[in-house]
Amino acid sequence: MDNKKNIVLIGMMGAGKSTIAHLLDEKLKDFQYLDIDKEIEKLAKKHIEEIFAIEGEAHFRKLEHDLIAKYANYHNQVIATGGGIVENPDNIELLKKNSVIFYLKASVDELLARVRKTNINHRPMLKHPNPKERLIELIKKREPFYKMADFEINTEKKELIEIANEIIEKYDTIN
Ligand code: S3P
Repeated sequence: MDNKKNIVLIGMMGAGKSTIAHLLDEKLKDFQYLDIDKEIEKLAKKHIEEIFAIEGEAHFRKLEHDLIAKYANYHNQVIATGGGIVENPDNIELLKKNSVIFYLKASVDELLARVRKTNINHRPMLKHPNPKERLIELIKKREPFYKMADFEINTEKKELIEIANEIIEKYDTIN
């Protein structure tokens, strides 16, 4: 199997990173699926909301950074990241070495609708009296870092398969 650059998906909560990463993994036989949040939960032996509640966000960010530093050296992975990896810009720099990075973008209303379809309580960063306001605030802070991605993919009103195909097409242009 050839060594190929990882495909890394970044973007806000509700952007569809895990779902699309699964789809890419199904379509690309040389790649394996890796979910940073799931790896953090395995390492900490706790759910993310418990890590935030018991050890706090700073501890979560440390685990997240340590795992990114590890997986940044791998290849042939489709990596779904948590929306907050850009809270530490070193994470993007580390991933840039060996990955093609895609920023999955959607409007605030679409993001909110998608997180509400799952369980908003599993997202400690949205524990706020007004989750929409919180999302807007986070996007404002994070977007300049999301834009460090190699490609920006607008996911609004697109079928999942269409998004996956667009990613593969763009990946093939530079790998
Ligand atoms: C976070 C996003 C979550 C998870 C954690 C923090 C964030 O991942 O890593 O709750 O800071 O935006 P998703 O983007 O997969 O929801």
